[in-house]
Amino acid sequence: MNIKTSAPGKLMLFGEHAVVYGYPCIVTTVSPRIYVEVEKTSGLLKIDSPQFKDTRFVQETVKLFCEKYNVNNNLLIKTHSDFSSQYGFGSSSAVTVATILALSKLFQTEISKKEVFDLGYKVVINVQGVGSGFDIAAAVFGGTIYFVTGGKVIEPLFVKNLSLVIGYSGVKADTSSIVKNLEFRIHNSESEYKKIFEKIGKIVEEAKISLVKNDWKTTGELMNKNHRLLQELGVSTEKLDKMCHAAINVGAFGAKLSGAGGGDCMIALASSNKIKKVELAIIKAGGEIINVKCNI
Ligand code: PMV
Repeated sequence: MNIKTSAPGKLMLFGEHAVVYGYPCIVTTVSPRIYVEVEKTSGLLKIDSPQFKDTRFVQETVKLFCEKYNVNNNLLIKTHSDFSSQYGFGSSSAVTVATILALSKLFQTEISKKEVFDLGYKVVINVQGVGSGFDIAAAVFGGTIYFVTGGKVIEPLFVKNLSLVIGYSGVKADTSSIVKNLEFRIHNSESEYKKIFEKIGKIVEEAKISLVKNDWKTTGELMNKNHRLLQELGVSTEKLDKMCHAAINVGAFGAKLSGAGGGDCMIALASSNKIKKVELAIIKAGGEIINVKCNI
């Protein structure tokens, strides 16, 4: 029997970094997906994953799943991706979730969404050592989610017509080293960082309301504020700042980096009649536009 499953990638809308320290964030899914195919074999575990050099997430998922459900790992697992792992859309979390879903179908185990999340989050922590789990939650639950560290709260938000432009800065960022670097800096001035995280937490609470109301003006202003606080945390780059300014200058409601920073993507919120202008401005600032649908 051959089982096929898939899970979507994600984009952080609000609250990155603060969410690692117990604050909430808002994350949305993107249209590109990771696909996993699994079948039982007589041989040893084989992972055929030509698009990813790093198969640790699949390996760790198989290990934890087989231990938990007491099944053997004589498996052939093939993965395939709609998107390049360089964009920071969460290919590791999506492949983790898709693998859990595939294994639970193959072995006919009853597993709730929360259990898929808990197992997937364990995989992330075992492989990466750090992370809030927001990307696992997005891959499991889909749509737009209000999320608190470690899955303490996972709440779907009913957001309609989220009109985002996504710009890639051309630099691949390494999330875990950026998170670890910030952790190191926090040690030296905890109270200063705590103040920034509290402000970010407040922005997330306000954005939770403005997004559901389709209040794009307020949402855009909150994105700008969140970006400024990420600059204060020292995780933005000149290129990301330039791309955000360019988008705002031609009429975007707001813009911010999305994810750990240090490169990867920025997002701009714009009304449909401004999208083309915003895209061109981001390209002029040196960015690459990534065409994906959000909130799916
Ligand atoms: O770089 P990304 O898109 O994987 O986002 C990282 C977000 C952080 O808050 C910095 C880390 C986390 O696990 O929440």
